[in-house]
Amino acid sequence: MTAWLVNGSPGESVPVDDRGLAYGDGLFETIAIRAGQPRFLDAHLERLQQGCDRLGIPYPGNERLEADIRLLGDCQHGTLKILLTRGSGPRGYAPPEVATVTRILGLTESEADLTPVAAVRVRYCATPVAVNRALAGIKSLNRLEQVLARAEWDDPGIQEGLMLNDRGDVVCGTMTNLFLVSGGGLLTPDLGECGVRGVMRDRVIRVAEQNNISVAELRVSRTNIENAEDMFLTNSLIGVWPVAELDGQTFTRSALTLRLMQLLADAGVTECAV
Ligand SMILES: Cc1ncc(COP(=O)(O)O)c(C=O)c1O
Repeated sequence: MTAWLVNGSPGESVPVDDRGLAYGDGLFETIAIRAGQPRFLDAHLERLQQGCDRLGIPYPGNERLEADIRLLGDCQHGTLKILLTRGSGPRGYAPPEVATVTRILGLTESEADLTPVAAVRVRYCATPVAVNRALAGIKSLNRLEQVLARAEWDDPGIQEGLMLNDRGDVVCGTMTNLFLVSGGGLLTPDLGECGVRGVMRDRVIRVAEQNNISVAELRVSRTNIENAEDMFLTNSLIGVWPVAELDGQTFTRSALTLRLMQLLADAGVTECAV
């Protein structure tokens, strides 16, 4: 069950003229609650604020959002969602001169999953991810590309699909960022033109750099993947998913992936304990 809060009050509805509904005119964050605390909350709020700045949506402020989170009450383990929209507006795309932001928060409590992290099977998706510098990096409510890509398969044995842009660069998974282990270091797609700059991706990069593991942010091709020693996926809820197979290409766990997972586990991403 999810407990919802709309603009600071318990509730489950928003006005039908909300621009988040009409145009996806807003942003969201999905945050892991672990040991009673929203993990990497500062980083999530920072990305939310950056998204607001980019879209010209007034950011409600960390204090206001942290007060909302407290109102949702205690939770040991679960998922916190924060959605911000530009609020209600008249007909048409033109943003209202003064936006009254809608804040929607949802808290879903769940059992801690104690099964050890398993390697996942992944496929390539045909749905492209659009090149658009204006939206690159931020986590906007516009997720139709991911919806179409995720609808491409229903095999429960496949956990994730990789998406390419029209230039043939591999950019991301439908709900994850990707890393390759190659030449003794890490390679991850540059997200200057498309993709979501994941909080867990940033954390992996930071932990790697603190431990003298090189990380290159570059355009990644299918050939880079074919030649990679290992590959893993990241997001805030899963931590790291090592990839076992991608459309017939198999990967065996590299010492570097295992080391990084242990370093992340030590930094609070307990799912990564190996
Ligand atoms: C399209 C997309 N890319 C990347 C990510 C990973 O982001 P984060 O690490 O902040 O969870 C997500 C998370 O849901 C996503 O939906």
